[in-house]
Amino acid sequence: MKTELFGRQMQSPVIIGSGPMSYGARGMIRLAEGGAGAVVTKTITGHAAVNPNAHMVKYAPGTLLNCEKWSDYPMARWLEKEIPEAVSAGVNCIASVGHTVRDSSQCVEQLEAEGCMAIELVSYRQETLLPMLEDTKRRVKIPVIVKLSPNTTDFPALAKQCEDAGADAFTAFDSIGPAMRIDIETGHPVLGQGDGCGWLTGEMIRPFIIEKVCELRKHTSLPIIGLGGIGKWQDAVEMAMAGADYIGICSAVILQGPEVIRKLDGKIDEYLRDHGYSSLRDITGMVHRFLTADDRSGSYRIKMDPKLCTHCGKCVRICPYEARSFDERGGMHTDMSRCRKCGLCVSACRALYVEEAD
Ligand SMILES: Cc1cc2nc3c(=O)[nH]c(=O)nc-3n(C[C@H](O)[C@H](O)[C@H](O)COP(=O)(O)O)c2cc1C
Repeated sequence: MKTELFGRQMQSPVIIGSGPMSYGARGMIRLAEGGAGAVVTKTITGHAAVNPNAHMVKYAPGTLLNCEKWSDYPMARWLEKEIPEAVSAGVNCIASVGHTVRDSSQCVEQLEAEGCMAIELVSYRQETLLPMLEDTKRRVKIPVIVKLSPNTTDFPALAKQCEDAGADAFTAFDSIGPAMRIDIETGHPVLGQGDGCGWLTGEMIRPFIIEKVCELRKHTSLPIIGLGGIGKWQDAVEMAMAGADYIGICSAVILQGPEVIRKLDGKIDEYLRDHGYSSLRDITGMVHRFLTADDRSGSYRIKMDPKLCTHCGKCVRICPYEARSFDERGGMHTDMSRCRKCGLCVSACRALYVEEAD
């Protein structure tokens, strides 16, 4: 699905977040060939990272725990080799730069000169983001994206300051953490970082990120690259409805390979066409129309499509209030005096659905 960002044509709204797959030109070219609209480099800083062993583990389906640091390539290598190679291969290259003014001031002009379409600024410490942004805006003409952390308590206030300082877009968000896993056979932390900690990404963090993107959308009209927990097209649609203009992925492409990019892109396109929308923009921020000061109550009716009921009994088992039962002929019975319309059965069964009365 063709789209554009900062006036640059992109083959898809899927943007690859900074991570191990964009370790250098070779990885970035592979991602662009896989259909990515743009690729964010692994974070470039003034000194190459040395990563502990292990620094990346699969935590749960679609979910990673990692303590991978910034890029293990020196800045000079990015400027002299990796960026020129990726750009000349036609990659829409966004340079991730961290984590202090000292780092960013050494490279942003040359990253612009080498053809990066934008700079993405990232920091572990929120107080360094704004000075980095102000300095970078003085140095380059290409757009500057600010990557926000979900661990920053008042990210809307920081976003507002960044917007006032000339930010052109937000990437929302970075990983959630710190988090830890312990090997129960040995008692060792699974990750090799000294304190045993790392950062959680992928499927498990999606509900947190969706809420934060929704919150960010209330505070800015700048483009948002929604990043965090997207692995399937349905997640991407949800992310757009929360307020994202572009779909960021990182863990999904690590766990599913670059093939996931075209799969996502094609399915999002199909969803939009099936629902009569002409672009992702038509659904961006859609949920905001339904957010009110009042709780939803009387209008919520739970219905069942008997054709889809397989009599599996899931809705009976899952009901905390014992409102559901099967009668002797196998028909589903709901005792409305017990039902509190909690909605749990609807989320567990395909045959059940909600009808909203006005
Ligand atoms: C192994 C790994 C390494 C990462 N390295 C970086 C990095 O160098 N710079 C950065 O800004 N974000 C980094 N991230 C964070 C991702 O860009 C992204 O914000 C996060 O993974 C959430 O997206 P996801 O749930 O789609 O993975 C990394 C993520 C992973 C999984």
